[in-house]
Amino acid sequence: FAFYLKFSDFLITKGSAMTTFNELLLEGKLCDAIIKVNDVEFNVHRIILCGCSFYFCALFSSGWSDTKKQVYNIPGVSSEIMRLIIEYAYTCSVPVTEDNVECLLVAADQFNVMGIVRACCSFLENKLCVENCIGIYRFADFYCCWELRQRACLFILQHFEEVVRTSEEFLDLDVLQFCDIIEKDNLNIMQENVVFEAILQWIAHTPATRKHHISLLLPKVRLALMDINYFLYNVKNNEIVKDSEECKPIIINTLKAMYDLTLKDAANFQSPLTHPRLPNAILLAIGGWSGSSPTNGIEAYDARADCWVNVTVEEESPRAYHGTAYLNGFIYCIGGFDSMEYFSTVRKFNPVTRTWHQAAPMHSRRCYVSVAVLDGFIYAMGGYDGYVRLNTAERYEPETNQWTVISPMHQQRSDASATSLHGRVYICGGSNGNECLFTAECYSPDTNQWTLIAPMRSRRSGVGVIAYGEHIYAVGGFDGIDRLQNAEIYNPVTDSWHIMSVPMNSPRSNFGIEVMDGLLFVVGGFNGFATIFNVEYYNQKTNKWCEAHDMGIFRSALSCCVVPSLPNITDYTAPRHSPQSPQMELGQSVSKDIFSS
Ligand SMILES: *[C@@H]1O[C@H](CO)[C@@H](O)[C@H](O)[C@H]1NC(C)=O
Ligand SMILES: *[C@@H]1O[C@H](CO)[C@@H](O)[C@H](O)[C@H]1NC(C)=O
Repeated sequence: FAFYLKFSDFLITKGSAMTTFNELLLEGKLCDAIIKVNDVEFNVHRIILCGCSFYFCALFSSGWSDTKKQVYNIPGVSSEIMRLIIEYAYTCSVPVTEDNVECLLVAADQFNVMGIVRACCSFLENKLCVENCIGIYRFADFYCCWELRQRACLFILQHFEEVVRTSEEFLDLDVLQFCDIIEKDNLNIMQENVVFEAILQWIAHTPATRKHHISLLLPKVRLALMDINYFLYNVKNNEIVKDSEECKPIIINTLKAMYDLTLKDAANFQSPLTHPRLPNAILLAIGGWSGSSPTNGIEAYDARADCWVNVTVEEESPRAYHGTAYLNGFIYCIGGFDSMEYFSTVRKFNPVTRTWHQAAPMHSRRCYVSVAVLDGFIYAMGGYDGYVRLNTAERYEPETNQWTVISPMHQQRSDASATSLHGRVYICGGSNGNECLFTAECYSPDTNQWTLIAPMRSRRSGVGVIAYGEHIYAVGGFDGIDRLQNAEIYNPVTDSWHIMSVPMNSPRSNFGIEVMDGLLFVVGGFNGFATIFNVEYYNQKTNKWCEAHDMGIFRSALSCCVVPSLPNITDYTAPRHSPQSPQMELGQSVSKDIFSS
């Protein structure tokens, strides 16, 4: 996009001169050279072709004669492509299509027409998808189009699992290109066995010629981070690995590193065997109630390293019982309470610059507010304004920085929770001031109407509600007597709830809830006795709750949101000092250990 912008600026300034030259060309006037490709002749002005390519400059300046029209025979290109190149020299524009882009880029590279190279690269960049990204990557690698190569590489890294599963071109990577991809920290995989299995798949394509590459590829896997049983049965016992002498020390060192990990609490992120990848998204825990006061604390969860990083901006004031939403690069903090004031204010955080900004305030003060994002709007619903529990709702449009009141809900809902799924906003539970609610309702922006859906099995205030897969999950909360440990799941197709078969490890209300990497996270909250900092996640595939690392700050009434693909994600992750040369380090420590014993 940026390129097209510059490109059209250029056309505006150069436009009139270009038009004149092009007219001369079309009329065949003042031409001083003939380019001959196969049997097709093109009358051209040397000076114009010189303007777009060093190749033609060099060609024309050797054997220059201004008396007669010279004929230049150009081999290795089709007349159709040469026509496009000449047209480009005169008009500064070129029609790139799926059919011609490959030949055009090759020819533009050969004739050094950088304008066309850039146009082709930007065309290919916009066409990147799982099916073609490897092909484009290899193509860009071959023609030294570094920017395109980098974009394609980034695309492969982000969609690695899908690429390995579905792209036939993946098997055509050469060993160095394959290494270049799997050694990257920002390879987006949740488990290292994905990389190991990709290696096996790649080798199996032509085992005879690829088997020996195992010793080069295996050290790119962060082996010591694998599940021990997986490592023993699938890696150590693998025939190709067993057959390779060079792999033996790698296996031994991995076992040692795994043993060390069980002894130490903190992992060694520097070692190539235990160096975690970078996450593709981060989970932020923002504000809340900690001890006897609200906090301004922000912590970022680094899922690959399983740790929380303190990214608090000290100047920002504390806020609890608020809602958060991520939209178009900003994290919005909406409403809430600081122990003095019930907020109508909205603050937005830019995670790249790590600065806070004011956004337009809501129409109502809303503490214990429920927030959801749908189709580019932020919805803020219910809450408490200091006097009454609200049934009102409003929505925010970032482009105009405006809140608009929408239809009120059927019930007053304070301390409820909301999410969106398939074009609707869902809000469940909460309290009306007298009792905790088991009712739930959904909003359709098309009709601007709220509809009561089937009620939950339990009353839930301070509940966490989130869309996960095709369902709505209502997790934990307070039923008027106890903090709940269970969750229930709503199926919008059948309009029915069922209790989740496995409860959380800890009961909790007023916690943060989000889905990241296909896992449902619950963060902090109140367990009935104390404010907690523990975090757990549910995996739909295994139907299990597992503990994640505790936050640094114990808190309830916090709010969580997920921030995808940050440019400077390392500002939000545990420090990993990239090892200079993993293989070298590995090789050195290996030889020392093996040969000294
Ligand atoms: C987090 O960082 C902030 C700002 O640097 C600091 O004031 C606060 O004490 C830190 N919190 C924790 C729990 O380390
Ligand atoms: C994050 O990256 C942006 C753009 O790459 C840069 O301007 C900014 O300074 C970085 N922020 C920090 C805190 O390093």
